Amino acid sequence: SRPNMIDPFGRAVSYLRVSVTDRCDFRCVYCMAENMTFLPKKEILSLEELDRLCSAFIEKGVRKLRLTGGEPLVRKNIMVLFRSLSRHLESGALEELTVTTNGSQLTKLSRELYDCGVRRINVSLDTLDDERFKAVTRWGNLQKVLDGIEAAKAAGLQVKINMVALKGVNEHEIIPMMTWCHANGHDLTLIETMPLGEIDEDRTDQYLPLSMVRAQLAERFTLTDIPYKTGGPARYVTVEETGGRMGFITPMTHNFCETCNRVRVTCTGQLYMCLGQDDMADLRAPLRASEGNELLSDAIDEAIGRKPKGHDFIIDRRTKQPAVTRHMSVTGG
Ligand code: GTP
Ligand code: 5AD
Ligand code: SF4
Repeated sequence: SRPNMIDPFGRAVSYLRVSVTDRCDFRCVYCMAENMTFLPKKEILSLEELDRLCSAFIEKGVRKLRLTGGEPLVRKNIMVLFRSLSRHLESGALEELTVTTNGSQLTKLSRELYDCGVRRINVSLDTLDDERFKAVTRWGNLQKVLDGIEAAKAAGLQVKINMVALKGVNEHEIIPMMTWCHANGHDLTLIETMPLGEIDEDRTDQYLPLSMVRAQLAERFTLTDIPYKTGGPARYVTVEETGGRMGFITPMTHNFCETCNRVRVTCTGQLYMCLGQDDMADLRAPLRASEGNELLSDAIDEAIGRKPKGHDFIIDRRTKQPAVTRHMSVTGG
């Protein structure tokens, strides 16, 4: 068996999330400011460098790999990377290759994703209402996303919808969204909004605890906890009335850090040991310093050796801005 990366708290790191671009064709209000300055190309890892980086992590024990962004599927030639990484599925080294996407490119890319061994994808969709979709994503086109989801399903991909629950924005759509997802054979995962990066909105106003949502759902539906595990932080229930599955991601109300199995790399090669902490390690320098992976491997070990116990999501009461100042789009969730 392969070696494992074990952190100071005895947790094995088996799940790598890699942001392949900081760019996105949407501007979701909780994720980005409307005017974003994106990174110059030379700062960004090339597709070859991303491949080397992912492969190094797989050699060190990663079994689940998720590409994120920004929007991963708007990166030029991204399918070249998927194609290349699929060799690790074929060899059995990797159990799952997957992606979190806003869905805008799925009509075009779903079949190719399936061909590369992807079987399950997560699509971010916060509302089924045209107007609200525009309000949340600023630049998005709902119909294009719905068509993309349909194409993904037709291509044989299992789809999970991610919905960030926002008070006063989409809370009344949780039940309609669940009904729609389950009628179409998709799982639905609700996410508590996390304070990351300066944005234009006031997030304290939009925060909706999922413990409350779950209690309200339980008044109308029969929810049963199930041990379904994807390797991510969601806890799942089945909904008897719809026959579907629903997940809850509760960084704020129910901390799941003690079973954390993941780290994330940005498109510039910075390794973040925790989504809710600023500490990171630069992997781009060791990656670019030599053709071999020794320096890179040492840098990874050193960083895993200081993975923090858990996240630190706080909003400064005075400035009303989050303690963690980078945007969600830097690490792709
Ligand atoms: P599955 O493989 O379906 O379990 O996916 P996933 O939940 O691991 O990935 P996805 O990209 O769908 O992530 C959904 C959201 O969960 C992320 O964007 C984050 O908001 C949140 N999340 C994932 N991992 C962590 C974590 O380690 N800490 C915190 N606070 N939130 C996380
Ligand atoms: N809090 C919680 N989830 C967020 N996402 C983006 N920004 C935030 C935030 N501030 C979600 C996206 C996507 C996933 C990767 O992260 O909707 O589904
Ligand atoms: Fe783009 Fe996703 Fe951020 Fe929305 S949440 S702006 S789709 S990266």
